Amino acid sequence: MSDEHDTPVRFDAALTAVLALLRDWPPAADPGLGAIVLVRDVYGMFRLVFEFRPSDDVLASLSPSLEQAAGAFLAQPGGRFLFKEDLFAPEAIFESPDRTYPFGEDALFSFIDRGITGVDWLRSAPLPNEAPTPTRCVFFGLKGGVGRSTALAILAHALSRRGKRVLVLDMDLESPGLSSSMLPMVEGAFPVHGIVDWFVEEAVGQVDRRFLRDMAGISPLSSNADILVVPAFGWNEDQDYLAKLSRTYLDIPSLDGTTRTFASRLAAMIDALEREFAPHVVLIDTRAGMHDISAVTLTRLGARTLLFAMDTDQTWRGYQLLFSHWRYPPRINDIREGAGRGQMKMVAAAIPQTEAPEAYLADFARRACDLWQATLYEEIPPQDDPAFDPGRDYFNYDEGDAEAPHFPIPIYWHGAYTLFDLMNSRRSQAQLADANINGAFGRFIAETLAWLEVDS
Ligand SMILES: Nc1ncnc2c1ncn2[C@@H]1O[C@H](COP(=O)(O)OP(=O)(O)OP(=O)(O)O)[C@@H](O)[C@H]1O
Ligand SMILES: [Mg+2]
Repeated sequence: MSDEHDTPVRFDAALTAVLALLRDWPPAADPGLGAIVLVRDVYGMFRLVFEFRPSDDVLASLSPSLEQAAGAFLAQPGGRFLFKEDLFAPEAIFESPDRTYPFGEDALFSFIDRGITGVDWLRSAPLPNEAPTPTRCVFFGLKGGVGRSTALAILAHALSRRGKRVLVLDMDLESPGLSSSMLPMVEGAFPVHGIVDWFVEEAVGQVDRRFLRDMAGISPLSSNADILVVPAFGWNEDQDYLAKLSRTYLDIPSLDGTTRTFASRLAAMIDALEREFAPHVVLIDTRAGMHDISAVTLTRLGARTLLFAMDTDQTWRGYQLLFSHWRYPPRINDIREGAGRGQMKMVAAAIPQTEAPEAYLADFARRACDLWQATLYEEIPPQDDPAFDPGRDYFNYDEGDAEAPHFPIPIYWHGAYTLFDLMNSRRSQAQLADANINGAFGRFIAETLAWLEVDS
């Protein structure tokens, strides 16, 4: 332990130092020890779990160096080294889907970060979907109030006009609002059940097809095909929304002893709604910021994601924090393979009228490209470098490449949309006028439909 005159080892520095130590620790490369897993628990404390027990001498010499590297973030002597033979459920460690590989995927060494929240940010593999999946599109933003829900409603309207049946999910459960701007708040028109109701009823086996049908209302915005809106809360004057919300995120044990996570339950709910309503496209509004709910919707539903941003330092810094969380394989590879190639696209939201749009978009593309180059894009070695593989399609794009995930789809700020409310007939007239839609959202609609590969 450090005495009071030492500078304490801080959370981030502890991981860096522990990894640096283990990278150069000879036994870590010894296949005789089998797999070694570094686990960081909810307190941020580290322990090492060995498949095969090393000699006491080896461990005794490792302990002081770990103490120095991790400081207060090292588990107590009795619990800092664990061995597979002593574990009640070793597969929870050695076969955990949460393992990442800081030293590369071929290494026997892996890392599990057991935070209370945030694990779903690291589980990038899509969950299996039972039904043939229609195109799913998530509207994500790091900051609130950038116009995501408005853009979603306008896109739903455009899809309906093109004869596409749309299912809209209001997954912004902490501040639901989308449903009331797309559905009349009237008994009979507003659905009886909402998303949080599905979570509490399904836990006790009380969801059937009738229940699912009572979760969606047809929006008056529908024209050539239905827009079905599933709200966060249902029509019930006398409900305890927070009591249901707090149960929504829980992982619950099922009868066969396995645990059903929030992510897998959410995926099951969406599958069931898709089977019931057979939409062409599913639009998912999600919570702003790095909340678990957004982690799941972003990385675990096989959905395409629109990343809303405004060209400010605060926004770029936020995305940098998020993207760098995915830095180790296999996550980074999954992101590059799936989420990167065609599954993510940036949106330049609410482009101010006071700026020249082309200059604004050029600045946006430059800063977005810098961010992706520094985090998710693959480095391309120089052509004369032996590491360069001419047959490989590197995940990397030029700043001005319109196909690139960093290259933005624009939405323009427009006075008609400052108080977005399609249920107010006076406002909706202006908000649904073709000239206004085209002025603010014309490019957004055309480019998003092309990116989603929805034929119009
Ligand atoms: N293109 C636009 N031009 C002008 N105002 C807009 C535009 N789009 C949305 N707004 C207004 O900006 C505000 C925020 O929009 P919206 O609720 O769609 O954002 P959001 O990103 O979904 O926010 P939240 O994070 O709170 O869910 C609303 O008052 C809306 O009327
Ligand atoms: Mg919103």
